[in-house]
Amino acid sequence: MNGTDDLRERVRVRYAAAATQVRATGAGCCGAGCGTGDGGCCTAEVTGTEESFGARLYGERDRAALPESAVLASLGCGNPVAVADLHPGERVLDLGSGGGIDVLLSARRVGPEGFAYGVDMTEEMLGLARANAAEAGATNVEFLAGTIEDVPLPDGAVDVVISNCVVNLSGDKPAVLAEMFRVLVPGGRVGISDVVAEDHLTPAQRAERGSDVGCIAGALSRAEYLDGLRAAGFVDAEVTFTHEAAPQMHGAIVRARKPLTADSPIEDSTKEQLR
Ligand SMILES: C[S@@+](CC[C@H](N)C(=O)[O-])C[C@H]1O[C@@H](n2cnc3c(N)ncnc32)[C@H](O)[C@@H]1O
Repeated sequence: MNGTDDLRERVRVRYAAAATQVRATGAGCCGAGCGTGDGGCCTAEVTGTEESFGARLYGERDRAALPESAVLASLGCGNPVAVADLHPGERVLDLGSGGGIDVLLSARRVGPEGFAYGVDMTEEMLGLARANAAEAGATNVEFLAGTIEDVPLPDGAVDVVISNCVVNLSGDKPAVLAEMFRVLVPGGRVGISDVVAEDHLTPAQRAERGSDVGCIAGALSRAEYLDGLRAAGFVDAEVTFTHEAAPQMHGAIVRARKPLTADSPIEDSTKEQLR
């Protein structure tokens, strides 16, 4: 098993345990003792900043509109639906959709003329998300099994890509950024929430602040994110810090746009930097 496969398997085990806990007990699972014993889901081990993650990052109105288990399963680090400024009729893709909170909120915003897809590799999360969609009565949604490095949708399938605290978990970020670019229509946009490090932190310093499966060690710096987005072909890329997730590391809003005429393969040197 190579490093990327090993990380992916550890992430899958961690988030399968989180989904199973929500379904079995009706309780969220982001504290120590969740399945694997080395901390929670997305959380910084050095500070235990649990208030930086999960459902408390959504407004009361958003939470009230959703099944309780979708809210309990929220493991993100922001509210990408608010970031993406969705409009009726748009098609949205959520990368690493988990229990489905952002897909269900997106489906409400885009309305019956629009559509929201979620992609997740963890069967238990897909089961939870589909159950939540049924409970919410959402008909304009679909949860797809697959990875964010190889999205099971054709080119130009969506108007907007969102994601909530998942890109940091990938062992192949250039592939994720390239897939975002591929599945978007020309002129389409990215509006995601993620953990992002200040530029001066080395990878080792990021790892001191939390684990890779805990959404900390694998975080890109702001400069790395911007370079990666531009190398993938995006324009108007910006990263805005919103709240502290760990010392010198932040919950952040990441925005970018695919140009109307797009043809920009990712550069090999940038791929190396982002791994
Ligand atoms: C931190 S949780 C976030 C879930 C959801 N976005 C939310 O805000 O609640 C990470 C999710 O991403 C999924 N995931 C992580 N890495 C993935 C990958 N490489 N491909 C597909 N899904 C992935 C996990 O299975 C899990 O459901």
